[in-house]
Amino acid sequence: MEAYLEQFEAIVKQQMARVEKMKNDKDFVDYKALDKIIIGVVGGDGIGPAITAQAQRVLEYLLADEVKKGKVEFKVIDGCTIENRAAAGKAIPDDVLAELKKCHVILKGPTTTPRKGDKWQNVESANVAMRKELDLFANVRPVKVPELGIDWTFFRENTECMYALGSQGVNIGDDIAFDFRVCTSPGAERIARLAFEYARANGKKRVTIVTKANVVKTTDGKFLEECKKVAKDYPEIEVDDWYIDIMTAKLIDEKRRTQFEVLILPNLYGDILTDEAAEFQGGVGTAGSANLGKHYCMFEAIHGSAPRMVEEGRDIYADPCSVIRAGAMLLSHIGYQEQADRLYKAIDDCAAEGRYVMTGRSDGATGEQYANYIMEKL
Ligand code: IPM
Ligand code: MG
Repeated sequence: MEAYLEQFEAIVKQQMARVEKMKNDKDFVDYKALDKIIIGVVGGDGIGPAITAQAQRVLEYLLADEVKKGKVEFKVIDGCTIENRAAAGKAIPDDVLAELKKCHVILKGPTTTPRKGDKWQNVESANVAMRKELDLFANVRPVKVPELGIDWTFFRENTECMYALGSQGVNIGDDIAFDFRVCTSPGAERIARLAFEYARANGKKRVTIVTKANVVKTTDGKFLEECKKVAKDYPEIEVDDWYIDIMTAKLIDEKRRTQFEVLILPNLYGDILTDEAAEFQGGVGTAGSANLGKHYCMFEAIHGSAPRMVEEGRDIYADPCSVIRAGAMLLSHIGYQEQADRLYKAIDDCAAEGRYVMTGRSDGATGEQYANYIMEKL
C-alpha cells in the first residue's frame, strides 16, 4: 500500500508545481516584437516526412521574402520517429526536445502512438508529451461546412484530464487498475479565457461548455465552474452548458447543430468530439489543428501516420492537404494573415477545380504534384 500511496503523492506534487508555474506564467509571445521567427518542421513518422516536406515547400514559397530578409527561418528537426523514440524509451528523445525549444512555432507531421502489444516499447504518445513539455494548453480545431451551415471552433484543453496522466496509472496487484484525471483552476481558466477572447474578437454570439459534470463531479465540476466564472467577463456572449453524451447526439441534429459556434471541452471529450465533427467536413484527414501555448505553438494534421502506406511504398501519394491547412493556421497565428488567406483560398480552389485528385495510390496525384498545384493557384 505504501508504494501506491507514494506514486499518488508524486502525482499530486507534480500537479501542485504545475499550478504554481501556471499562476506565474507570462503572457503570450508577441511575434511582431521578435527579430526573427523560427519555424520548426518535424516530419514525425510514417507518411509524416513526405507530407510535411510538401507543406514546408508551400510555406517557404509564401514566405520567400521574409526568409530573404532574415525575418523567418525554417529549421528541420529530424529524429522524432517511432524507431528513435522507442530506442530512447522516451516519448520525445532529449535532443529532439532541445531542438524544439529553440523554435517559436512548429509544424508537425503525424507520430505513431504505440500501445501495449505493439512491436515498439509502449512509450507515451509524442503528441501528448509535446503538448505537456511545451505547455500547449489549447487545441483549437475549426470545422466548417458552409453548405450545411456548420461553423464550429473547438477549444480542447490539451494538458490535463485523463491524457496528462495517461501514462502514470497504477496497477494494484493483478486485479485492479487505476488511472488518474486532473483538472486545475488555472488550467481550466486559461482555456476558457482563450475561447471567450476568440469568441469576442470574431463576433461569435454563443459559447458552449461541454462536460459530464453531473456524474464526474469533481474534475468536470471544477472545469464547468471555472468556465462559468470566466463567462461573467463576457456578458455579451450567450453561454450554455451541455453534457458530452447528448452533445455527440446533437452534432447530428440538423436543426440544433447550426446553433453551436465556439465549444470548450476537457481533453478527452475534446479528442472524441472533434473527430466526430471533422467527419462532416470530409474526415480527420481534412482538418488542421493548432496547439497553442504562451511560449510555443505547434500546428499539426490530426490524422495518423499510415505506416502501411510507407510499407507499400505509397508515401509519395499521401495527401498533404491536412498538414498544409495546419500551415495556413500557423501563418495566421504568427501574423501573416494575408498569406494564410491566400493559402486557404488556393486549397479550396484546387478542391473545386479538381485537376489533381489524391487517392493515396498510383492512380492519383503525388503529394508533390498537389503542392505544385497549390503554389500555381497562389
Ligand atoms: C489527436 C490524436 C492524439 C490525441 C493522439 C495521437 C494521442 O488523436 O490529436 O486528437 O488523442 O490527442
Ligand atoms: Mg484524436
